[in-house]
Amino acid sequence: MPATLIDGKAIAAEVNAATAAEVAELAARGIQPGLAVVLIGDDPASQVYVNTKVRKCAELGIHSVRRVLSADATMAEVLAVVAELNADPAVHGILVQSPPPPQIDEAAIIAAIDPNKDVDCFHPVNVGKLLIGEPGGFAPCTPRGVLVLLEHCGVDPAGKHVVVVGRSNIVGKPLVALFLQKAKGANATVTCVHSATVDLAEHTRRADILVAAIGKPEYIRGDMIKPGAVVIDVGINRVRDESAPRGYRLVGDVHFEEASRVASLLTPVPGGVGPMTIAMLMRNTLQAARRNL
Ligand code: GUN
Repeated sequence: MPATLIDGKAIAAEVNAATAAEVAELAARGIQPGLAVVLIGDDPASQVYVNTKVRKCAELGIHSVRRVLSADATMAEVLAVVAELNADPAVHGILVQSPPPPQIDEAAIIAAIDPNKDVDCFHPVNVGKLLIGEPGGFAPCTPRGVLVLLEHCGVDPAGKHVVVVGRSNIVGKPLVALFLQKAKGANATVTCVHSATVDLAEHTRRADILVAAIGKPEYIRGDMIKPGAVVIDVGINRVRDESAPRGYRLVGDVHFEEASRVASLLTPVPGGVGPMTIAMLMRNTLQAARRNL
């Protein structure tokens, strides 16, 4: 039987509806959540992501600020924008779109963001809190979105073997930390595999829940998946396709056709994890604003 698709769009719509209702409640108490999105340069994919975030804010009643700096912006210019946003009481969340241009020291920019406004959960203080499992801290948007997707599908990771493919600071590493938590919706046994792993497929084939976040198009083939596994595809890759209207199409890190013949549940790309990332960003902004109550 082919895999059942996990409809990330529909689940994100449910989450967003709840967020919009909570934003309205908070507004009635005199606080409108605000998110600032900073884009450095003119990378087309980053522009799309930033525009989508700003549009979603408007839909949910969240105030948004969009700051665009040129591709040759200096560190001093970026740090000045961050300092201004840190001091702005109408801004509860700050996100600097990654990756920045090469002259920008991303770690230094992240460290300059007020940890209470770090809705990405990239600041070392928040990464530390995540690892400790401190209640009430932020969780990074994409990893949190993955756990919420599983919860909505009735998949409890407790006691299951989760294999995370990829060790990025944005997805792989925080996802390992979240799945490991001694908490509801987590409690998994976790393996993380990456570019230096020997016999990577031996590990992926043992996964009850396989999460691909390695940034390589269609890297996970059908024979790397245990029959009946739940497969979550975090990848969004543009591949050339002359027959597509824009000259490219989007594929995940999982070979969709092959995976759909082996997995029990599978996220599509697009329409799987992507919408959840933005939904979680909106929730983190709401959470940051609530701290002002
Ligand atoms: N680039 C790709 N994903 C993300 C994200 O979650 N946050 C930021 N700031 N940049 C990204």
